Amino acid sequence: MISLFVAVVLCWTFIVFLISPFYKKTKEQGFIEVLGFDSLIEEQPTKLNFQFINKDAYLKNNEIQQIWVIKHSSKKATVFSPICPHLGCRYNWNSNIKKFVCPCHVSIFTRTGEVVSGPAPRPLDTLPSKIENGTLYVKWEEFKPGLSKKIEIYAFSIN
Ligand code: FES
Repeated sequence: MISLFVAVVLCWTFIVFLISPFYKKTKEQGFIEVLGFDSLIEEQPTKLNFQFINKDAYLKNNEIQQIWVIKHSSKKATVFSPICPHLGCRYNWNSNIKKFVCPCHVSIFTRTGEVVSGPAPRPLDTLPSKIENGTLYVKWEEFKPGLSKKIEIYAFSIN
C-alpha cells in the first residue's frame, strides 16, 4: 500500500513538472493605451488608471492598475510603477513636501524617483512607455521588492 502511495506521489510530481510551463505567465506583452495623458499638467505627478487583460495560461482577467505619470511635454513622460520597491506597498505623492511617500515604512522619493530616506533599496521602478500622436502607451511589469537591483517578477500577456 505504501509503495502504491509513493508511486502516485511520484507520478503526480512528474505530471506537474511536465505541465507547469503552461501555467507560467508569458513573456509576450504589448503597450496599452492610457487615457487622460493629454489633460495632465506638465511636471505634476499624477496617478492614472491603467486597464488590461491579463492572460495566465487559459485564464483571462480584466486587471486595473494605477501608474504614476509625470508629463514633461506632449512628447515626453516618465511613468512609475505604483508599487514601492521596498516591500510592495502603494505610495503616494505628497504635494506639501513635493515628494513621493510610502505609508508603510516611510520611504521617501524625489519626483525623479530617487530615494531620499527610508528602507527602500532602490529608486522607484519606471515602466516602459511611449507617446504616439499625443497618446501615452505603457507596458505593465512587476519587479521583485526588497532588492537593490530591478528584477522583473513576470511579464503579462496583454491583448
Ligand atoms: Fe514602502 Fe516599506 S513598502 S517603505
